[in-house]
Amino acid sequence: MMDRAALRLILLGVFLISATSDPVKKKQNVDIYSFYINSTVTSRYATTVITSRVANTLNESQEIQFEVKIPKNAFISKFRMTIEGKTYDGVVKEKEAAQQQYNQAVSRGQSAGLVKSVGRTLEDFKTSVTVAAFGKVTFELTYEELLKRHLGKYGLLINAQPMQPVADFKMDVHIQEKPGISFLEVKGDLSIGDLANAIKTTRADKDAWVTFYPTRDQQTKCKSCGENGLNGDLLITYDVERQNSKGEIMVSKGYFVHYFAPSDVPRIPKNVVFIIDRSGSMYGRKIDQTRLALLKILSDLDEDDHFGLITFDSEVSLWKRELLRATEANLENAKSFVKEIRDRGATDINAAVLAGVDMINRHPREGTASILILLTDGDPTTGETNKEKIMSNVKEAIGTKFPLYCLGFGYDVNFDFLTKMSLENSGVARRIYEDSDADLQLQGFYEEVAVPLLTDIQLKYPGGTNLTKTSFSLYFNGSEIVVSGQITDNSVESFTTEVIAVSKGNNVTYQDTIMTKDPSDVPPENEDFMQRLWAYLTVKQLLERQVLLKGQEKEDEKKEALKLSLKYQFVTPLTSMVVTKPQEGEVEVADKPKEGEAPPRHPVITSQHRPQSFLKASGYGGGASDPHLLHGQVFHHMSGRQHLIYDDAADYDYAYVLVPSFPYIKTAAKRVSVPKRVTVLSTQSGTLKAPTVHSNRFLLPVVGQSKPLCFDIPLPHKLRLLQDSASEFSMNGESLTGQNGFNQIALHYKTNHHLTIETTSIRYCDDQNQVYLLWGQELTRKYTEGVSLILRSNEIDVTMGNIHIVILLHKEKRNMFLWPAVQQESKDFSLTGVLGKTDASYEEIQGSQTPTLKIKDQEVSASWVDITDYRLSSKPVIKCWLVSFYAVMQRDISDFTVTKL
Ligand SMILES: *[C@@H]1O[C@H](CO)[C@@H](O)[C@H](O)[C@H]1NC(C)=O
Ligand SMILES: *[C@@H]1O[C@H](CO)[C@@H](O)[C@H](O)[C@H]1NC(C)=O
Ligand SMILES: *[C@@H]1O[C@H](CO)[C@@H](O)[C@H](O)[C@H]1NC(C)=O
Ligand SMILES: *[C@@H]1O[C@H](CO)[C@@H](O)[C@H](O)[C@H]1NC(C)=O
Ligand SMILES: *[C@@H]1O[C@H](CO)[C@@H](O)[C@H](O)[C@H]1NC(C)=O
Repeated sequence: MMDRAALRLILLGVFLISATSDPVKKKQNVDIYSFYINSTVTSRYATTVITSRVANTLNESQEIQFEVKIPKNAFISKFRMTIEGKTYDGVVKEKEAAQQQYNQAVSRGQSAGLVKSVGRTLEDFKTSVTVAAFGKVTFELTYEELLKRHLGKYGLLINAQPMQPVADFKMDVHIQEKPGISFLEVKGDLSIGDLANAIKTTRADKDAWVTFYPTRDQQTKCKSCGENGLNGDLLITYDVERQNSKGEIMVSKGYFVHYFAPSDVPRIPKNVVFIIDRSGSMYGRKIDQTRLALLKILSDLDEDDHFGLITFDSEVSLWKRELLRATEANLENAKSFVKEIRDRGATDINAAVLAGVDMINRHPREGTASILILLTDGDPTTGETNKEKIMSNVKEAIGTKFPLYCLGFGYDVNFDFLTKMSLENSGVARRIYEDSDADLQLQGFYEEVAVPLLTDIQLKYPGGTNLTKTSFSLYFNGSEIVVSGQITDNSVESFTTEVIAVSKGNNVTYQDTIMTKDPSDVPPENEDFMQRLWAYLTVKQLLERQVLLKGQEKEDEKKEALKLSLKYQFVTPLTSMVVTKPQEGEVEVADKPKEGEAPPRHPVITSQHRPQSFLKASGYGGGASDPHLLHGQVFHHMSGRQHLIYDDAADYDYAYVLVPSFPYIKTAAKRVSVPKRVTVLSTQSGTLKAPTVHSNRFLLPVVGQSKPLCFDIPLPHKLRLLQDSASEFSMNGESLTGQNGFNQIALHYKTNHHLTIETTSIRYCDDQNQVYLLWGQELTRKYTEGVSLILRSNEIDVTMGNIHIVILLHKEKRNMFLWPAVQQESKDFSLTGVLGKTDASYEEIQGSQTPTLKIKDQEVSASWVDITDYRLSSKPVIKCWLVSFYAVMQRDISDFTVTKL
């Protein structure tokens, strides 16, 4: 092996010779000449194989990467690399053993950092291997998952992002469902535009085939693609025929699976209580989205449903003491209550949930299904804060009578606590990701539980053993109950299932018997799928139960889950896959990443130690698609969890990410050589406390008067700041509770130019460009159609058509915020929006007791106040006449609010 110092010298040489070559060109030393994705779904059990064949086109050896994204629910079950005819298989080992092997390799200086990250629906798998000059490598990854039915359909999500256009790209999906496929749809961002032509769907009675063979050309021209080829998802959704309400049973080689999803059952009226966190941390978008979602959910209640609303911070407020019927009048009343929900104090989860339980318990109603839904974004901080105590209080109060569903909003929640509390009360916990669609996620969750059909479901299999979960508190329309197990006696000719449940207060039973000797329709090449399905489901359920158990039982179940993971070679939270590479003793470990580490909500760059030139030299200079590729910079985020971005300890010259599940910086995990220096850690702790600000004060230029007018707009809000319909221009801003100015300003011009400015970064896109900028870097760019951006230190100068705006980044105490200044004085067009008024005028009324102005023939009271003029970076404090918003604008603030930036 070449001495590392020598290697570095050679690399430096390369940089010198090709100083102008950009990183994109460098990548072309690697040719991915074929990329196949092959997915087979047999009875909802999906096995996907990704095969990538890559050639090193350089005349020297180099490291070649393989990186794919797989669904979070899936388990990796196989990985193999083939280099020069030799095969290297990944081996699944117990986590500790794998870690040990890895650590040993690290201590010999032979291994790269392990990389893992997890996003909302997908997680990363990534590895690399050194390939000789003109050599080839084949990567092959297999993962398996049981597709879950949601809202009446199954979804198979396949991500394709080969990192360059591929001459031979093929995606083949084969779905085989014994009862027949009732509908099938192909969606996702790879299914639109020209790419739609590359998709072919073939349907037979029980089979469907979807192929996706985009040409090289198509791979670069699609909407979500670029120079680097395809980048996006295909989502295949489908459902199966359900002729038999007793469900579908399949038996194969000693295992069975029973899918139970009757739909010909009347809905059960429900009693639903929403317990909504309105603590201070819900400020801004979260509380807005919660209100939006609740309003929609209320509209969806059925008239025979009863409902209750509880909001809580340190106090618990009930909309009404009793559950009320979802009549139109009650719903209208409840909506007014919801509109008034504001964020305020601390978080008393205990009191709030107990109030909800009490509400349901006080009026039990025959033949109904009760559901408690808790939405929170934080830990209990007041009242009872001991989580064990809260859980035991809640469990005792509910007493297995109905389920508790917990929705954890964002990353500051203790999701384990919510999971445990829901599981203890036969519900589930769901994470709501902080994003622009959080309201839709909330509604989506509600829709899944909107139509209860059965309660207290028990499934029995006299001829089965080692069964997965067989008892369920509720069954909702659109979902599915799946039970799998082993068959006790393989020689018996029939297999019987029995389901006992309660439908609207009546006991119902479903009994079915099938002949086990019937041909199973399972093709021989995947006839062991049912055994794997059983193992998959068993491991998933054992792992899920871990949070509920203690002591010996917990250990036993963990051992069982580990045993099965090893036997079936699943990469689960208990195991890791060890990949031994051709380079002497070099190992790499792939883990199942754990979800729940906080990504930086608003990453704040606290220090910029690394010169831009370094980033360029590492191939990450200008135009990098990922803004967070700033190695050596330290991010921390508002809740103050620690984030260590890289470590370049003395013996190492590699940067790598130590924080798993840190979606923002996943691509930063590429190995790059960095100058040796002491590691910088971000240890910022505690929430950033802002001086409390209640409103934003705006200055209004006036015609013919030396004293300006000003007005206040209360926080938080999302405002239409400026609009010019004629040139299709708009600028909107969002402000947060307690903070000056705006945290985000979005500008749109024509239909295709979008500029989003945040306190950390600036994003611009149009049809051709996607640019990510950071405050502090110098830049001038002009784009087509009259758009130009000039960024200098803390100002960005934006021209869009005739409109010229400067947006300033201000820093006060420890807060950063944005403030727009409109530079355009031309009267050629009519601007609207909060900043659009340019023709204000007034008269001072002399001799009145309190200062009074006459505006538009109205006498309005005014006060002579200070205002900081944030339109200038010097922030001068001047005086102005403060009047009400209505007085100057003649309209309500609500006429200027927007729901989307
Ligand atoms: C994909 O699967 C089909 C069978 O479903 C098989 O014929 C084909 O060879 C597979 N392709 C690859 C690349 O594995
Ligand atoms: C690789 O090719 C370049 C130019 O084509 C040549 O200068 C160099 O010596 C070659 N390197 C090796 C290791 O053959
Ligand atoms: C359950 O959903 C199906 C469609 O998925 C619908 O046809 C049926 O009416 C629903 N049942 C009830 C009770 O709402
Ligand atoms: C159930 O599973 C356990 C362990 O996986 C196995 O030892 C046992 O034989 C199984 N039971 C039956 C009846 O197959
Ligand atoms: C339903 O069955 C349970 C137990 O099997 C029994 O206690 C209950 O009385 C039954 N209810 C009705 C309405 O038949």
